[in-house]
Amino acid sequence: MTTTDTATSLRDAFEAAGQGHVFRHIDRLTPSEREAFLAQLAEVDLALVARLAKPTAEGKHAGGAIAPAPYFPLGGDTTDARAAGEALLRAGKVAAFTVAGGQGTRLGWKGPKGTYPATCVTGRPLFRVFAEQIAAAERRYGCAIPWYIMTSPLNDDDTRAFFRDNNWFGRNPADTFLFPQGTMPSVTFDGKLMLETPGSLAVNPDGHGGAIRALHASGALEDMRARGIEQMSYFQVDNPLARIADPVFLGLHAGSGGNARSSGEMSSKMVAKRDAAEKVGVFCDVGGKTGVVEYSDMPAELTNAVDAQGRLRFNAGSIAIHAISVAFLERLASGGGEDGSAGGFALPFHRAKKKVPYWCDAHGKTVEPSEPNATKFEAFIFDALALASRSLVMETSRMEEFAPIKNASGDDSPASSHQIQSNRHGAWLEKFGVKIPRRPNGDVDARIEILAETALEADDLADASLPREIKAGEEIVL
Ligand code: UD1
Repeated sequence: MTTTDTATSLRDAFEAAGQGHVFRHIDRLTPSEREAFLAQLAEVDLALVARLAKPTAEGKHAGGAIAPAPYFPLGGDTTDARAAGEALLRAGKVAAFTVAGGQGTRLGWKGPKGTYPATCVTGRPLFRVFAEQIAAAERRYGCAIPWYIMTSPLNDDDTRAFFRDNNWFGRNPADTFLFPQGTMPSVTFDGKLMLETPGSLAVNPDGHGGAIRALHASGALEDMRARGIEQMSYFQVDNPLARIADPVFLGLHAGSGGNARSSGEMSSKMVAKRDAAEKVGVFCDVGGKTGVVEYSDMPAELTNAVDAQGRLRFNAGSIAIHAISVAFLERLASGGGEDGSAGGFALPFHRAKKKVPYWCDAHGKTVEPSEPNATKFEAFIFDALALASRSLVMETSRMEEFAPIKNASGDDSPASSHQIQSNRHGAWLEKFGVKIPRRPNGDVDARIEILAETALEADDLADASLPREIKAGEEIVL
């Protein structure tokens, strides 16, 4: 087909779908702009957009019977699980997987979130923190842990440049696999596609649920298979304390100790919620399946429900750390749910009202709206939990593993993350008799950073040479 034919047939299809307005500036585009625009339009699934734009909510919790999900509690016996997880690591069967395609708008950081200086003394960027942790685990278990990182078309170039500029953090570039996720067009509240410029649609990354398609399409899944990888340690780019390839979690996930909930397909970590209002997804049992109900989808009466002791009933906060098997991902990518249905890349899309920059004909420029003006569609990886035959949730300690950086200030900010980092490292040192200054509320009154090469967990400090005391206000890196 000639470009003109392509343009005509696309135009017909968009007209028929009530989206013909996106062609209104086509005549002023240069040939290359036009070609790029037509290529973008050709990617749009008009039927999907029409279905999603209808007000019947896909992805919302439908309000059926939901109960708190059972979980493996903190303090449970994990000796066998650790041995099983370590065996997987030693055999080179574990990869790390970071979702880093988000736009990080809340933090107000211009670059990819992984380039944000996150640690409390040296200001190591998140990607460096993870690279060093993976390197320390590789040394410990004498294995390679390939690292897969999902970017988005909006931050892929910057992310690659950051890795290159930092010499891949000393890693073999062949063991670090970056790939962009897909996008979804945003629509106005009456379901119309939006132009961001005369020659481009307003699109957003398709959510971390887009990982299934992107892992497949990029060849990452095939690469894992070729390397003999069986399990993926999944974590978000915003949490510097994420414990990557945690042997205890991997062992429980893989079924060590015969835990009835584990299938080795997809497992999750949780922490007790800070309070009812905390913006985390909650592990629930929905119709006999473990799932996450996102905070924005959770009915308020359930979010606030308490038991007879006054504790939150729905208390299992998701820290978005999962173990996911390659076989499970392959099954999802190739179109089969557990019962042969659903699956495919077809995780449901959730909708969110967002401020989306759009092309304003009257002003002749792209305008940043001050109020939400559009609906974005995103798929969530945790919706894959429902497609696993069974699914284990393991409780972990918030202080040990969850200090996300999401907002510029307040909860889940750099300041709160730094405090949790120091609290964790202070507690590790106290375990070995180091005197740690604390404020009346129990927070450590010093900045303490322990590098991954020194310790991945408290017990690694047993043979380290440690100070006897840390003074109030001191900054220390070990
Ligand atoms: C997320 C979880 C929430 C969990 C919390 C824990 C969702 C929808 N919710 O909330 O259940 O309790 O983390 O910290 O995820 N990302 C992509 N591509 C995208 C969108 C996001 O890779 O298209 C990545 C981001 O880079 C980030 C992560 O996913 O690493 C989380 O995204 P975000 O939208 O910020 O989720 P939260 O609201 O923080």
